[in-house]
Amino acid sequence: MAELSKQAGKAEAAGQREPILQVRNLVKHFPLTQGLLLKKQVGAVKAVDGISFDLYQGETLGIVGESGCGKSTVAKLLMTLETATSGEVLYKGQDITKLSGRALKAVRRNIQMVFQDPYTSLNPRMTVGDIIGEPFEIHPEVAPKGDRRKRVQELLDVVGLNPEYVNRYPHQFSGGQRQRIGIARGLALNPEIIICDEPVSALDVSVQAQVINLMERLQDEFNLSYVFIAHDLSIVRHISDRVGVMYLGKMAEIGTDAEIYEHPTHPYTQALLSAVPVPDPEAREGRERIILTGDVPSPANPPSGCRFRTRCWKAEDKCAEEVPLLAVPTLYQGKDTPAAHASACHFAEEKPSVVSAA
Ligand SMILES: Nc1ncnc2c1ncn2[C@@H]1O[C@H](COP(=O)(O)OP(=O)(O)O)[C@@H](O)[C@H]1O
Ligand code: SF4
Ligand SMILES: [Mg+2]
Repeated sequence: MAELSKQAGKAEAAGQREPILQVRNLVKHFPLTQGLLLKKQVGAVKAVDGISFDLYQGETLGIVGESGCGKSTVAKLLMTLETATSGEVLYKGQDITKLSGRALKAVRRNIQMVFQDPYTSLNPRMTVGDIIGEPFEIHPEVAPKGDRRKRVQELLDVVGLNPEYVNRYPHQFSGGQRQRIGIARGLALNPEIIICDEPVSALDVSVQAQVINLMERLQDEFNLSYVFIAHDLSIVRHISDRVGVMYLGKMAEIGTDAEIYEHPTHPYTQALLSAVPVPDPEAREGRERIILTGDVPSPANPPSGCRFRTRCWKAEDKCAEEVPLLAVPTLYQGKDTPAAHASACHFAEEKPSVVSAA
């Protein structure tokens, strides 16, 4: 696997702390139209509404939030599969939302995706060899025709599947094996970044850990940077170096995994963590469970001010009037504490009784 292997290890890469992706004020509004012929725009689904974050070389950034909060839309924007309404996605300093033609194609090769559902994301009529080798049709320079079969077999081996399976069809594999096929396809072009949109959510719990372990091994081997999306905080903890929590098209809180899991300051993160089961009875004792009431409001008509205010037990008048910015809370500014990380809440504060056990 000499060509596939990039030498730099994860620790080394993390030491450089170079952002490979910088997302700045990213917005995606889907127009809501009325009328059959003369479509008139009557509103917009604000799926992603001003999100900023960095992805560092060699790290895994987890993105977590309830269904419908805009995670997949962020993934598609990073992949340039959707056109941003506004904002920037800088890949090594170059805004990929403005690229087209050859320049876009070159960038796309370096940013690949692994999809959520291994049952529907693989074409049932194609052999595994054709599925994994499909990216070579668009980028023949990576593997000339004569080398492709060998290359696909190498990729099967890399993800822990028998290289002889190259002529089999997706239905001949289990869910976990299919996701390995999806990962092999994601690796085919030797990318730098892989956007993983709920890659293990459709798998049995016992298989989830195997796939996550495989992804961690591949990250070290090929010095990959991951954006790892999940709706469940407990899944991303194992794999993430940092975690961002999304709510209704916005980033509520972002920090290292220790900051988010042990010192959350945003009421939404605190509520999500209070619902994560804790196996250790001692750690469970005295822990307060916050039950979120009410549904997630529609992204076509989000609440004014703080979007979480209709479900927040701490909400005050200010929360309806002013949009809280994602920043280190005033309370913790200049302090050497893990609570001093970015949180979009006017009243951000640690709440020790909801801290999750490791
Ligand atoms: N192509 C689209 N057209 C209109 N609305 C969309 C489209 N794609 C997603 N949405 C809406 O945008 C919001 C965010 O969706 P999505 O990014 O899929 O969330 P998640 O992945 O967090 O579940 C949802 O309300 C969804 O219905
Ligand atoms: S800004 Fe207000 S409503 Fe929003 S999370 Fe903070 S306390 Fe709750
Ligand atoms: Mg999704």
